[in-house]
Amino acid sequence: MESTFAGRIAVVTGAASGIGYTVAHHLAERGARIVGVDIDQRIAVLVDALPGAEHLGIVTDLTDPAAATAAIAQTVETVGVPHILVNSAGLALLDPAVDVTPDRWRLTVDVNLGGTFYMAQAAGRVMLEAGYGRIINLASQAAVIGLDQHAAYCASKAAVLGLTRVLSLEWARHGITVNAVSPPSWRRLGKKRRGPARRARRPSGTFPSAGSRSPRRSPRSSPSSPATTPP
Ligand SMILES: NC(=O)c1ccc[n+]([C@@H]2O[C@H](COP(=O)([O-])OP(=O)(O)OC[C@H]3O[C@@H](n4cnc5c(N)ncnc54)[C@H](O)[C@@H]3O)[C@@H](O)[C@H]2O)c1
Repeated sequence: MESTFAGRIAVVTGAASGIGYTVAHHLAERGARIVGVDIDQRIAVLVDALPGAEHLGIVTDLTDPAAATAAIAQTVETVGVPHILVNSAGLALLDPAVDVTPDRWRLTVDVNLGGTFYMAQAAGRVMLEAGYGRIINLASQAAVIGLDQHAAYCASKAAVLGLTRVLSLEWARHGITVNAVSPPSWRRLGKKRRGPARRARRPSGTFPSAGSRSPRRSPRSSPSSPATTPP
């Protein structure tokens, strides 16, 4: 496993918060140039403050296929062909299955699955030409187990696993590896992996203290129904 990323260009979606921000920070600390892509307007300021220099923040909504193409085009033009793509943008909208509205279903699938695919496809095109790439998709334990009120979320994350298998099969022979990571829920991660210092420097409350169930809402979530930090 690489411990230095000097000279590497890493595109990280969802880099304004949580796992995406932590990954971006980790890679930047080890020498990578980061392109943070997020719907959150703070992304430029946040990536600018990462260790190292000349990072790029792109505010965009990854539910739009053209936005992913544009984000990769901007990356290539201003920073270079990315070596790494981490697809961390995601959201979880909780509803009993019988109450899931088409809008909330579509939004979940469009962000978690659509955004992941559009970014992988756009990055894959330039990585295929370069003959090298490392793509990591954030799936979830919810991809393989059922969780109460997570119909759209569990379905979208299971689909991310299916997508990852196909991309890895098609692109491995061209020097591009595609993998998925399936973290357990934030409660376990929070207790076991994150100390207070690390939590304090994170820009959002992905790993909140016990008891605060819904630490933050996605900019796109409905104010009337809960959006949780994804499991
Ligand atoms: N936190 C966990 O315990 C956990 C567990 C399993 C899987 N995951 C997965 O890991 C990923 C990151 O989770 P997190 O806890 O860091 O979440 P988070 O809510 O802290 O961060 C998600 C980021 O995605 C961005 N985003 C949302 N919609 C977007 C859109 N349309 N376009 C661009 N950006 C958008 C948000 O602005 C936010 O910055 C998600 O895919 C999630 O499903 C998280």
